[in-house]
Amino acid sequence: MTEPLLVVRGLSKHFASGNETVSVVEALSFTLGQGQSLALTGRSGSGKSTLLNLLCGLELPDAGTIALRDQVFDADGATARRKAAGWSALRRRHIGVVFQEANLMPALTLLDNVRLRAQLAGRDPANSEDWLTRLDIGELARRYPDQVSGGQRQRAALAMVFAMEPALILADEPTGSLDRHTADEVTRVLFDLQARHGCGLILATHDAELAAGCQQHLDLGHQSDV
Ligand SMILES: Nc1ncnc2c1ncn2[C@@H]1O[C@H](COP(=O)(O)OP(=O)(O)O)[C@@H](O)[C@H]1O
Ligand SMILES: [Mg+2]
Repeated sequence: MTEPLLVVRGLSKHFASGNETVSVVEALSFTLGQGQSLALTGRSGSGKSTLLNLLCGLELPDAGTIALRDQVFDADGATARRKAAGWSALRRRHIGVVFQEANLMPALTLLDNVRLRAQLAGRDPANSEDWLTRLDIGELARRYPDQVSGGQRQRAALAMVFAMEPALILADEPTGSLDRHTADEVTRVLFDLQARHGCGLILATHDAELAAGCQQHLDLGHQSDV
């Protein structure tokens, strides 16, 4: 394995459901190498989105540690919430997240969406138009999200993530709302740019073809260490 980018140890998360607690992620450990891609599979409800949310600080773990390069987040009760605020700051700069539906700001053009994301990550927004061009939607830069197709919005969402120059990309069923042809194109662009820029990628997907394109595989239906 290459040098580790993300090291997860003993990660656990439960949710309360009525009087019961449901353990969604249980003592999960894995390591993602620099520039490597990991496919996260498992039936619906197996905890893929929860795991991605834990990794980017949108959910707090009950136990375990998550280390991104030299930044370590460990879940120990009293100070976890404060530490999570620090982790969220890290996410804005270093972790790019792509969802099933592109989450663009509707009142901003595609270009301004990319510029805003780059700025929030502390990057120079001057390259934003280039990112749209690299994703083949340069001519749509001044359109608003509701003036382009779903596939084009997803390309814009990828441009936003790459403009952050992230260390790690987390993608939650990023092609789940696209037709096969558009999904294949968006996938090709995602893998191509990820390989070129050497960032890590964790991809939650139902799509066997998409999963097959990743170097590492973690099936949450059958949790085990990678
Ligand atoms: N905020 C929450 N509160 C309670 N239960 C939740 C919450 N988020 C997810 N769950 C439950 O955790 C389980 C895993 O959900 P999820 O991570 O969305 O799975 P997947 O993405 O693999 O479909 C499901 O049983 C879901 O109902
Ligand atoms: Mg999900």
